[in-house]
Amino acid sequence: MDTLKNILIGALVCLACTSSALSQATVRDWENPQVVGINKLPYHATLQLPSRESECKEIISLNGQWRFYWSANPDERPADFYRTDFDVSQWNHIIVPGNWQMQNFGKPIYTNFKFPFQPNPPSVTSEPPKEWYAYNHRNPVGSYVTFFNLSRKELTQNIILHFGGVKSAFYVWVNGQQVGYSQNSMSPAEFDITRYAREGQNRLAVEVYRWSDGAYLEDIDMWRLSGIFRPVQLWVRPPVHISDYYVTAIPNTDFSIAEVKADVELCNTSRKSVKDLNVAFLIEGKEIKGSVHRLAAKDTMHVQLRCELRHPRLWSAEKPHLYPFAVELRDSKGTTIEHFDYHIGVKRIDIVGEVFKINGQNVKLRGVNRHDHHPRMGRYVDDATCELDIRLMKQANINFLRTTVYPHTALIYELADRYGLYVMDEACNESHGFGIGNKDMGDNPTWLKAHVDRASSLVLRDRNHPSIILWSLGNEAGAGANAKAMRDTIVALDPTRPPFYDSDRRYSAIYDDSYLYPEEMRQVAERVSDRPFMMREYVHSMGNSTGNMQEYWDIIYADSSILGAAIWDWADQGLAKPIDGGPLRFSADLSLQSDEFWAYGGDFGDQPNDGRFLINGIVGPDRTPHPAYYEVQHVYAPVQFEREGNGNVKVINRDCFTDLSEYDYTYDTLRYGSETVLNVYARLRCDMPWADKGFAVAREQFVLEPYTFPAKTDITKCARAEGKAKGVTVCGNALTSWIVGGRELLQAPLEPCFWKPENDNQSAAGFARRTAMWKEVRDVEVRYTALDDHSILVEMDYRPTSHDRPVMPRFGMQMRLPANFTQVRYYGRGPWENYPDRKRSAFLGEYAMPLGDFQTEYIHPQDNGYRCDVRWIEFSQPGRTVRIEGLQPLCVSAWDYGDEDLGPRHPHEVPRGRFVNVSIDLNVHGVGGTDTWGKRTLPKYTIDGNLPHHFAFILSAENGQQP
Ligand code: GAL
Repeated sequence: MDTLKNILIGALVCLACTSSALSQATVRDWENPQVVGINKLPYHATLQLPSRESECKEIISLNGQWRFYWSANPDERPADFYRTDFDVSQWNHIIVPGNWQMQNFGKPIYTNFKFPFQPNPPSVTSEPPKEWYAYNHRNPVGSYVTFFNLSRKELTQNIILHFGGVKSAFYVWVNGQQVGYSQNSMSPAEFDITRYAREGQNRLAVEVYRWSDGAYLEDIDMWRLSGIFRPVQLWVRPPVHISDYYVTAIPNTDFSIAEVKADVELCNTSRKSVKDLNVAFLIEGKEIKGSVHRLAAKDTMHVQLRCELRHPRLWSAEKPHLYPFAVELRDSKGTTIEHFDYHIGVKRIDIVGEVFKINGQNVKLRGVNRHDHHPRMGRYVDDATCELDIRLMKQANINFLRTTVYPHTALIYELADRYGLYVMDEACNESHGFGIGNKDMGDNPTWLKAHVDRASSLVLRDRNHPSIILWSLGNEAGAGANAKAMRDTIVALDPTRPPFYDSDRRYSAIYDDSYLYPEEMRQVAERVSDRPFMMREYVHSMGNSTGNMQEYWDIIYADSSILGAAIWDWADQGLAKPIDGGPLRFSADLSLQSDEFWAYGGDFGDQPNDGRFLINGIVGPDRTPHPAYYEVQHVYAPVQFEREGNGNVKVINRDCFTDLSEYDYTYDTLRYGSETVLNVYARLRCDMPWADKGFAVAREQFVLEPYTFPAKTDITKCARAEGKAKGVTVCGNALTSWIVGGRELLQAPLEPCFWKPENDNQSAAGFARRTAMWKEVRDVEVRYTALDDHSILVEMDYRPTSHDRPVMPRFGMQMRLPANFTQVRYYGRGPWENYPDRKRSAFLGEYAMPLGDFQTEYIHPQDNGYRCDVRWIEFSQPGRTVRIEGLQPLCVSAWDYGDEDLGPRHPHEVPRGRFVNVSIDLNVHGVGGTDTWGKRTLPKYTIDGNLPHHFAFILSAENGQQP
């Protein structure tokens, strides 16, 4: 490992020589794949736990308001702005960290894998089509200036300038002198600025390019945002300091002893050699010391320290036991020169044939993919939002996080260590625009250096985190020699976790295939016999989606070779945009104001764009859970309940390191009319950092005594003759008028309806086209029987006259009530929206809510809001209620707009409030969830258009004003 790191350092130094020579020629650094950095310090571990950085005296934050100038093109930039005499007092301000587009400079662009600039590697400034944003903004440049003070004492130290992340490439000057250059935007870049710094005020100038050749490896499905988006810090460090440390704690095979190995790298940047240094590793009240007799000037040295932990407590996502430790450097007198706090976890990973094991157990990864996304700050995610993400993931029983396509903000990994999440950490490597497994990037020696740089920066920053179980080489990227070099780099820098790669399986310890149907997954996993199988992405949760999850997990739990799967993805990547087109409001506030909407691709006039294809979360941009979140929580529950024939409830443990006795179990027996249900819960016995004692990690419902639906024979006994009741007008199959208490209750007739608008999955799968014939109702007969003045029995029969009909979107009826019937009360599944293929988490119960909560506001308006297994439902306005009661379970939705109003891009554009549109169905087509590019709802959740269907319900009205 040491050798490799030395080679890397050597490569960087050598790179620096080449690049300065190159930059004097006409090749620009930012269009030259050979130049990935100039004068950068070697990558190293996050030395201090991110949450404890404020305790670290060495760190000075440079975050805050800087001066800023935005230029549309490189040749329009203020090229000499780095000079100390350049006046920036009239420039705009910008907040660092935070992308410049989020602060109203230039446009955010969203594309999936289409390059937003004209691809012509390594150039990023070739001429694109005229309508593209990049045509007139060939490569926007952000020129940043800030000032900081240093004391004489500080100047006796090393001054290190640290950038957590800057997109896409940047130059740095201090006090008018050029310091260096960096690409590889999602990893830290550090520069030693000691020799440029001076006492008193210093001037820091940073010139950031929106695109660079690095962007060819950052072709990631997300907002393309630029600028300094992670914190900037000065580290004031002694000339002799700890430049890196790498700590492992692998237990032996019987877990009786863990060998802790700390490899501490020291660096002496001074011109004098130093003598008698001591390195101390403090853990569990012990101090393990190593001494260095002499560290030569301008040299580095590794000190290896070892100790054993006997009968160690192991780290797992379930029991994230951490051993805090400190690393100290002391001088010959024993005085502490530097001190850092961190933690390790004791765990081992083994791949035994097809089985992936953590601490000897065949764990299952109940996963999710995440992006660093904030709806107002862009790629900068503040600590509170990071914490909220991890807490909500834990509450959803997610135990696996893939930090998708780049090293995420450092705090995420610390939280994963502490709260307990297995992590697959991924190199920033996606060249999807050239195709998955492309040779253009993956096998072209010109791009070798950049690939290796991305692999080493990933591992060197994060390898001390116990939560990491897999290193990923990237996503939808190149195949070939460069992928191999990445794999070799990763394995050399950290042999304790296996490498993963979707784009060249030769370099992956795990076989990945994504977005398969459950049955396909079963077959592929069965076929693959040389390694474990996983789906790094599955259940594409775009819009109203996330169906058929249980089907996956029944198979995953049954096959020990399937490691798990990760949902795509965590949060909708909407951006908060004022409706009136006013400036974006940059702040840490996650919530949407009433005069804003969640913007997606195209909403900024960004061309090209991929529209709403990044609105795929199980939580919103503000992290409000979507209905799908609760289904994930349910299917991912570590405890499952099954009712056995004898009435006993069996408890199944899906975890590996937690005993079922560690939970409290509670139950409720609830009676709703004739129906009795049993709700059982497994609850936390004590407070956890992510939820309080009593929180239900698992819940299940069993029907003890089923509901007695009204029987037709009973209810028709006192019925009046068809269509003859007062106030009821029937015309053909439609109930055209229903007057109760002198007032019309129908704003549009009750009539059969087999059509429904699409959700995103369905629109991608051509659902409307395939099922268009159902816009017209066929072969159906409706019978209305007035039971008394206020109630009508409605019966509908479908008897198909042909055998080649597509699936029916829904089988039911629709009517419109006056607009003020906005209070909903029902007995059925809830409280959140549920569909036939996504209803396990929604329990039968009696729920009441305003119409606004009964419908679901998806960021892209689409079919929504169903409740299944509804026994009865009521819509009320003060003093008046319309009740619908099934003769069998119903599926019901209600909106303050009509089917025909769905079409606009955003909820605020949907015309509302003219009526309440109620759909009363026997069944509705499931949401689907496998992918949003063609896959369909599983057949068992569809309605066969070639079979007869029948349903019935009673419509009744109560009028408070009636005597
Ligand atoms: C995957 C890709 C993700 C995302 C997803 C669609 O294939 O890896 O980055 O684009 O498709 O939302």
